[in-house]
Amino acid sequence: MRILGLSNMRDASAALVDSGRIIAAAEEERFVRIKHVAALPIHAIRFCLNTAGIRLEDLDAVAVPWKYWQLGRRAALAIGSMLQSPRLFAVKGARSMQRLTQEWKELAFLRGYLSHRVDGTRCPSVIFLDHHLCHAASALLVSPFERAAIMVVDGASESHTTMLAAGGRDQIQVLRRVLLPHSLGQFYAAITSYLGFKPDQDEYIVMGLAAYGAPHFAPELRRQVLATLPQGGFRLNTRLLDFHLARRRLFSAEFVRLFGPPRRPDEQILPRHQDMAASAQAVLEDTLLHLARQLKRLTNESRLCLAGGVAYNCVANRRLLQDGGFDELYVPPAAGDSGAALGAALWLTERRGGLSSRTVMRTASWGPQFSEADCRAALEEAELVVERFDEGPLCEKVAGELAAGRLVFWFHGRMEWGPRALGNRSLLADPRREDMRALINMKVKLREPFRPFAPSVLEERAGEYFELSGPSPFMLQTAPVRSSMKGVIPAVVHVDGTARVQTVDADSNPRYRRLLESFARRTGVPVLLNTSFNVHEPIVCTPREAVASFLRTDVEWLVMENLMARRRSVSSGA
Ligand SMILES: [Fe+2]
Repeated sequence: MRILGLSNMRDASAALVDSGRIIAAAEEERFVRIKHVAALPIHAIRFCLNTAGIRLEDLDAVAVPWKYWQLGRRAALAIGSMLQSPRLFAVKGARSMQRLTQEWKELAFLRGYLSHRVDGTRCPSVIFLDHHLCHAASALLVSPFERAAIMVVDGASESHTTMLAAGGRDQIQVLRRVLLPHSLGQFYAAITSYLGFKPDQDEYIVMGLAAYGAPHFAPELRRQVLATLPQGGFRLNTRLLDFHLARRRLFSAEFVRLFGPPRRPDEQILPRHQDMAASAQAVLEDTLLHLARQLKRLTNESRLCLAGGVAYNCVANRRLLQDGGFDELYVPPAAGDSGAALGAALWLTERRGGLSSRTVMRTASWGPQFSEADCRAALEEAELVVERFDEGPLCEKVAGELAAGRLVFWFHGRMEWGPRALGNRSLLADPRREDMRALINMKVKLREPFRPFAPSVLEERAGEYFELSGPSPFMLQTAPVRSSMKGVIPAVVHVDGTARVQTVDADSNPRYRRLLESFARRTGVPVLLNTSFNVHEPIVCTPREAVASFLRTDVEWLVMENLMARRRSVSSGA
C-alpha cells in the first residue's frame, strides 16, 4: 500500500510510505532554497516518487495532515485580532490571508493541482486527516515502542494547540485537547518576537540564550501570561500575547508596560533579555511538565512520544524525561509540521489496515542522495583540487585534518529529514579546542556568539562524556557534560554545562560512525563538533549547492562521498 503524505503549509514537505515502510521524505525548502517555505511541495513529491520509481497514478492514496475546512476557528481568531489592530492587518494580515486562501485553494482542488503539476498522470483519492493525530502518528508509529503515551504540542492545529493521547500499534486514543488561543508554541513565538528574533523560526536561539539568564520574570509570566490549571491544561492571556496570523508584533502594549520595551533585532543583548529568555523557558518547561504529569496519571504508560514544533525544544525534552514520570522518550527527527506529512501517510496506512511492516526510525537519512560522479562534476566545475580515497583511508585522512584544527564540510549519503544535520550534510570540527566556536563563526556562520554547537558521539561511549539516560540519535535532548570532560570538549559545552547530544549507533550511519572511530583512535576522544552544512540558507541538498556554500566560506575541506576537495591556494596540510 503506497501512500504519499504531503503538507503545503509552513514547513511544506512530502513523504512516501509503502505498507508502513518509509521510502523517502524531504522538506520542500531544501529544493526551492527558502527556509520553512509554505508551498505545494512539488519538488519533494517528485523526489519521493522518483525514489520509488513510480508515478502519481501508482499511489493508493494521498494523505494530508490538515482538515482544512476545520481551520475556521483559526481564521476567525486571526481576523478578530487583526480587526483590533487595523494597521497591522493592512501591513501583514492581508499577505497572510492571501497565502492562507492559496493554501486552502490548493487543498480543496489538490487532485487537479497534483495531476497537472507533478507528472500529468491521474491523482488517486486525497484523504484529509486531523493534524494532531498525524503528529502523534509521526512519532508513535516509527518509535521503538509497542505502546506509549503521546504528547503533541505546537502553535496550532485546525483548532487545537495541544493533544494528550495514548496508543499502540493499531489505535491512538485522544485523551485531552487544549483549544486555541491557548498555545505554548505561540507563547514561545511571541517571546521570540519580543526578544527581537523571528517568531516561528528563531525559537532555538531563545532556548540557547535562556542558559545565560536567570528566570526573574517567571513568577510574573505565570501570574499574568501563562497559567497552568489545577484540573490540567493551561491558559494563555491573549490580551498580552497574541499570535494568530500576525507575523510582526505579537505582544500588546500592556505586555510592554509590564515587562519593559522589546528588543530591536539590531540591539545589543542585555541581561534583561537573557532573563526574559530564561523566564519563558522556565515557564514553558513547567507547563509541559504539568501536562506530562497529567498524561502519566491518565495513562500510566512508562514511555512517552513527543511531537509538534515545541518538541524541538531539546532543553524542555530533557526536563520532561527527567521529571515527567516516564522512563523512555522518543522524538522523531522531523517533530514539527514537515513530520506531520509522514505521520499522515503512516496514519492513513494504519487506518486502511496496511501497516504490515513498520520502520523503527533510528536514522534521519530519507532525503536525496547523489552519485560520486555527480559530486565529481560539481567539484571539477568549480575547479577545486580533488582526490579520491576508499572509505577507510578517507576517514583516517579527514580525522587527521580535523585533529589538526581544520574544518571539514562532510557531504555523504541521503540528506537528513528534519532540521538537524546528523552526519550527512554537516560541518565538522574538533570539539577539543576552546577557540573552535569563534573559529567557526569567523570562517562560516557569522551567527550569535552565544549559540552553542552540538556534539556527535559514539553511542556506546556517550556515558563517559554526558549524563544521558538513553540514545539521542536526532539531537533532540540536551544532557549535562560530565564535569571531568568539560575541559576535554570545551567547544560543545554550553554555558550551563550541557550539550545537545547526537549519539551515533552501529547501524544508522556507518560512514559517519567510521569517521568518529578514526577520530577517537587518533585523539582518544570519540566526539566531533557537528553543525549543519549551510550558510544562511536551508541545509544544502545537491553537490552544486554544497560547492557553492563551501566557496562562500574559509573552510579548508569539502568531502563529498569518497572525494576530498580543497581550493588550489590552500596547502593540503598533510
Ligand atoms: Fe503542527
